Amino acid sequence: MSKLVRFGVSIDRDLLLKFDRLIHQQNYQNRSEAIRDLIREILIKKEWFEGKEIAGAIVLVYDHHKRELVNKLLSIQHDYGNLIVATQHIHLNHNNCLEVITVRGKPKEIEQLAFTIKSAKGVKHTQLVATTTGKEIV
Ligand code: NI
Repeated sequence: MSKLVRFGVSIDRDLLLKFDRLIHQQNYQNRSEAIRDLIREILIKKEWFEGKEIAGAIVLVYDHHKRELVNKLLSIQHDYGNLIVATQHIHLNHNNCLEVITVRGKPKEIEQLAFTIKSAKGVKHTQLVATTTGKEIV
């Protein structure tokens, strides 16, 4: 278990005011928790940058009536099966489906999967949510 330490920070007053306003809007109870999250954010970016095993989700919306698109998306997912942990499919309305593809693996391969999905004809929107396996994040 890691120990809690305190440290002082010198910061421009206006910058701190802006920070306090922002974290208040985001419902943080205090600066400490907001600063901890900022540090985690940077560490997770570093995990991605360094090519460590990471986790994430690819969210996409598409029209399932588009010819060949459903087959194409299935085929892509089989090609990248080693990265995919689970897929959730939601029928949004008559035409549109939303899928959440949960992934785990090397950042470059996951980005490649996201790009391949994004560039498939008929996919309306794709978003890659990049997070961590949590192993090295306290
Ligand atoms: Ni559907």
